[in-house]
Formats: sequence, structure tokens, C-alpha cells
Amino acid sequence: MNADAGIRGSYWIESAPPGEPAPPPSGDLVVDVAVVGGGIAGLSTAWELVRQGREVAVLEADRLAAGVTGRTTAKLSALHTLVYDRLRRTRGAEGARLYAQSQSAAISHAAELVEELDIDCDWEEAAAFTYAENPRGVGELRAEAEAARAAGLPASFVTDTDLPFPVAGAVRVREQAQFHPRKYLLALADDLRRRGGAVHEGTRVVGLTEGEPCVLSTDTGVSVRANEVVVATHYPVFDRALLFTRLSPRRELVVAATIDESRAPRDMYITPEQGTRSVRSAPYGDGKRLLIVTGEHFTPGTTDVEERFARLSAWATDHFEGLTFTHRWATQDNESTDSVPLVGPLHPGSRHTYVVTGFGGWGLSGGIMAGCLLSDLMAGRDVPWAGLYDPRRLCSVIREGTSFLKHQAHVARHFVGDRLPPLSRPGLQDIAPGDGAVVRLDGHPCAVHRDEDGHLQTVSATCTHLGCLVAFNRAEQAWECPCHGSRFAPDGRILQGPAVRPLDKRDI
Ligand code: FES
Repeated sequence: MNADAGIRGSYWIESAPPGEPAPPPSGDLVVDVAVVGGGIAGLSTAWELVRQGREVAVLEADRLAAGVTGRTTAKLSALHTLVYDRLRRTRGAEGARLYAQSQSAAISHAAELVEELDIDCDWEEAAAFTYAENPRGVGELRAEAEAARAAGLPASFVTDTDLPFPVAGAVRVREQAQFHPRKYLLALADDLRRRGGAVHEGTRVVGLTEGEPCVLSTDTGVSVRANEVVVATHYPVFDRALLFTRLSPRRELVVAATIDESRAPRDMYITPEQGTRSVRSAPYGDGKRLLIVTGEHFTPGTTDVEERFARLSAWATDHFEGLTFTHRWATQDNESTDSVPLVGPLHPGSRHTYVVTGFGGWGLSGGIMAGCLLSDLMAGRDVPWAGLYDPRRLCSVIREGTSFLKHQAHVARHFVGDRLPPLSRPGLQDIAPGDGAVVRLDGHPCAVHRDEDGHLQTVSATCTHLGCLVAFNRAEQAWECPCHGSRFAPDGRILQGPAVRPLDKRDI
């Protein structure tokens, strides 16, 4: 995905590379709990359960902590941009307080685990800021500071930060943290194995039959019987409660550059301005830190990604001196329509199946919180914030209002509109090397990619999840589905769910 020579992909993956893969199960498995997905939510849940003495297997389609968790900005903060002012209006003062309490408890819990397990993960305590450069944004920041403080966070409105440019105002929450997510999670996975838990990579779960026990089928042909199943696949691969109507996928770009230690901000920042800009720095050695800047969120399937990378890099250069760009990558989040993650029973009739999703860009504290919440629910313990996150909560016009309707209109446009003529119809000769286009061939929508050597590769353009049409992201060389965010390689392989089947091959 890197247009510039020498620019590498995710720093978190590069600096904590995967070792030997943990093999798929060699035969059918019987376990107490099967956790589907080996990102922060799945691994945190599995670790908590193993510590309770449960027999757990983690089933990961690819490699552990190498999907969204390996591409995050890795802030552990309970300040989620402007969530508290919204929550106190939509879920009341108590809802906002429970949200703050649960997220803060997750951060404290992670800090305890780092100490208890002696995990070397570049842990740094830092303050989290939501700021605005434009004075017009100050009103909502004051409201957010007041709402966050009322919710119990150590929050205040300030105008001083350690950014090298002036801000009109900011909400500051002290005593948050930043870390290296893969170092943390790989250590957690090692500890899980030491305690008797099992991890299987390269094992895509493709089917779920609920019962006692539940039965999972996998693409390697083995089946897994489990008393309880946790679906922690970022966007749920099994959706029995129409959760897809309440989740909007969005991609976000990240650029990273070295900067002298003396110039690097030590706290963590985000602004809702300019389509969101998020900033932190990480230890890098040789008198440098790595400045990590995230922003430019867009719907998967948007085609101007290269321009967006350029805009994000230009913003970083305008705001910080002495940058040398070294890495860039992209990540994907699922925004729930009411801004609260969905963590709990998979559907209203669920007895043994659970889901974790909808962190909206705050999946580190959210994933750790989910691990604690689910393990407590399975142990029959009361958790004060279980209702707040319960996926079975009713839709509400007050809470979800326009987000819900906008997302439905967006999906409907792609689901129905993509089928109506005229379909984009470039001639095959118009597809440049490294590019791709959807064309109708023999009446079928086909996704045609031309590689750098000029060879064409053709797969069906119909997403195997629920049938929307994919679009090509040239900057990342991927077919992306705008409806729920499935992503596929040019040859149709799955890069990211919820799809569990590759795009069908087509001959042209
Ligand atoms: Fe749902 Fe493509 S991801 S239709």
C-alpha cells in the first residue's frame, strides 16, 4: 500500500513481528469456551476466562493481533472525543457515569496486568485531550469537559497543551495511558497458553450452530464443540440480531514520522475538526520518537485514498517540524449508531453465544472492558454496566436518530442501487496497471484488477456477505465492500470480514 519507496506498513506489526504461527486444530475440538477472533477483544476475553479456570480455545482466521488491533493508534483513554456530552443526553447522567467507570476500570486493569505479568509494552501514562484550533469549537469542548467531569473523570477545560501549535481550547483527562498493543497482546497470549488455553491461527470459523453444545465449523474442515461461544471478529461474522443495521464501518488512515524527542508531544490528542485528527508519539530510540497521526475517515470502497494519505501527511508537516515519514497504514472501525459498543448476548434468545463489536475507534479500552464484562457475565456476576453495552438494547430515535437512518440509506443505496444500470463500465483496456474496476461481463458484475505486469485477474464483484458490490481501493490494493466493510485481495481472498467466503473466481 505504500506509494513512496522506503515507507513501511504498520509500525506495531513491524516492531513486534509475528513468530511461528500457532497451527489450526489437527482434529475436531471440544472445549468449554470458543473465542472467535484473536484481536484485543478476543484475547482479553480468553485470558480472563482462562484465569477463571475455564478451558478456552481462541480461533483466529489470520494471525493474532494483526488485524485492526495491529493497526490502531494504541491510546488507552476513557475520553472518546466528545462522547460524554452526547451520552448524558441519550443515556442520562447514569449512562455517562457507567461508561466512564467501565472504560477507566479497563485501563486500570490493563495497568495491573502489565505489572503482574511484567509485560514490556512501552507503557506510558499520559493525559488525553480533545482539542479545537477553531474558537467555534470551544463551546462543545466546555460542555464535554463538564459532562466528563460529572461522569467521574479527572477532566477539565484547558487552553495549554504540549502541542507545538496553539489551540482555542481542549478537554483534558489526566492519568490515561498509551502502549504498544502487539507487545501487550502477544505477551497476554503467551500467558494464556502457559495457563492451559489454546490458540489456533489460520482457522477461519465459517458456521455456527447454537445449542448445547454450540458447534462451530471452520474452513480447515474441523469442527469445534463449545459450551459457550464469543464472536469477537471486529464486525460480527454471525449476526442473528440484525446488528448490521446498527454498525457503520469506516476506514481511517495513519501516517507515522520520526521526530526529535524534544519536539514530540507526550500526551495524546484528538480533534473532531477537519474530519478528525488524532496524534500521539511512541518511543523510537536514537533520540527520536515516532509521531503517529490518524485521520481522514471514510467509508470502505472510497477510491481517493491516495489523496487522503497526502492530505494527512500535509497536515502533519504543517503542524510539526522536523518530520521524516517512515510508516503509513490504514485501519477500520465499526461505529455503532448510538456511539456505545455492543457487548453481551449475541441475540435476544441467546443462552450461550456472545458478541463484541462497535468500538468506533476506541477498541483498546473497549476490548479490555469487553473481556472483563463477558467473563463476568459467564460467571454469573452482576456488572453495573452490562445493560449499557447490552446488544439487545432497543433502538431509540433519541439515541440513534440520524446515524441509524443515514446508515440504512447508505446500505440501501449500495444494495439496491448497485444492481441497477448503468453500472460503471470502463473498457478493460482502460484499467491501468495497479488499478481495478467493476465491469459487467456476460451480464455479471465482475471485479477486474490489472497487476503491475499488465495481467488481468477477475473475480465476482458481489460481496459474499450480503451481496453489495465491491469497489477498488488502489492505495491499499483491495476490493472493499461499502455496506459492512468486508475487504478482499485482488484474487478474491478475504482480508477482513464479516464475509467468510472469498469472492468467486470469474473467467474472462
Ligand atoms: Fe456486507 Fe459486503 S460486507 S454486503
